[in-house]
Amino acid sequence: MTERFEPSEGCLPLYAPGLDGIIAAETVLSDVDGAGGRLVLRGRPIEELAGKLTFEQGAAFLWRGFLPDEDLSDVKAGFAAARVAARQCLPAMKAAPGGLGVYELMRLGLEALPLTGTVRDAIVISGSLGYLLPAADALAHGRQIGAPDPSLSISADLLRLLRGKPARQAEVAGLDRYLVTILDHGLNASTFAARVIASTGADMRSAVLGAFGALKGPLHGGAPGPVLDMLDAIGDPEDAARWIDEELAAGRRLMGFGHRIYRTRDPRADVLREGLAPLRQQSGRLRSAEAIESVALAALKRHRPSRVLETNVEFYTAVLLDAVGVDRSLFTPLFALGRSVGWCAHILEQGKAGKLIRPMSRYVGQAG
Ligand code: ACO
Repeated sequence: MTERFEPSEGCLPLYAPGLDGIIAAETVLSDVDGAGGRLVLRGRPIEELAGKLTFEQGAAFLWRGFLPDEDLSDVKAGFAAARVAARQCLPAMKAAPGGLGVYELMRLGLEALPLTGTVRDAIVISGSLGYLLPAADALAHGRQIGAPDPSLSISADLLRLLRGKPARQAEVAGLDRYLVTILDHGLNASTFAARVIASTGADMRSAVLGAFGALKGPLHGGAPGPVLDMLDAIGDPEDAARWIDEELAAGRRLMGFGHRIYRTRDPRADVLREGLAPLRQQSGRLRSAEAIESVALAALKRHRPSRVLETNVEFYTAVLLDAVGVDRSLFTPLFALGRSVGWCAHILEQGKAGKLIRPMSRYVGQAG
């Protein structure tokens, strides 16, 4: 039995597993056209933004109208100040029990972050993650935690802190391209989680922490590390068909393929693949990744002829971030950094909508 309710006129109880096909929010932030394979952020196709804007510029673009103009005029300075302030989170992170991973340490840092309860918390949260990530990585691996350099952009400072020396400009640009590509993407699972929490009137930190949890799973933001594991396991593209057929026959999914909304190629896959051009000499993987991708697409077509299973964003996320020189254990933490901008925008948008998100369940248990 469905939870009882008084239906408004024209509104019938409806069960959609996974909320597939249900519209649960209105947004001005991003439009995901699943049939056409297009992603538009605030009226601009993703192809016009990624590779052209820095992460800071992308955040200012997405947050327009949600934060005061004076804050958006210099997000680079705002993010830099947030990285410096994030040093206050280090004692809480250091006090954590041993064995926690980077993602968990970042969450602890976020819990300890000084916030004001205003819309400006968006800048502090996203900016601080640019420091909490390399700090958590240093802590998890027993390395000395470096100090942030406020004169640098988030991408440049983060790569510098991770490797202990400045990154090349092409690597910084590659990371910026990635972070802008994944700024926002409709009502994906983590953004929905953030909006549900925000709809209860909870604070921005709580909503972002909820989104963090939702992002971690392998069906969402946890996929790119396993993509690289898959490419490694296959090794020679000549062996791809056998390896992939065995995986599919065993009932396992190929990471980096399939999407809830896209019924064609995820446009972000090509935006990220294009970012490999300046890094090409570093990406010995690219040619073999492309060959393996073709084999996988053909195998998926044979395996599920009735369902379009195309390349999604995570496949080339893995190849690009690997070429930038980021360890695969940091792919999901980096996803959280980039997507935190979208989460915060949706949290602020949900606050304006002011309606509690509370769907119903259908009772299929024992009769009472
Ligand atoms: N490999 C093999 N089979 C797949 C794959 C895949 N990558 N994706 C879907 N299928 C199959 C399913 O097994 C299912 O088959 P069945 O009907 O015989 O059981 C069918 O296609 C439909 O799958 P659903 O899970 O119902 O589709 P949904 O829209 O819910 O899933 C998802 C989308 C979770 C992304 C899925 O395609 C998947 O698991 N992909 C692999 C993980 C991945 O790459 N995640 C990152 C997604 S992008 C992002 O979140 C940023």
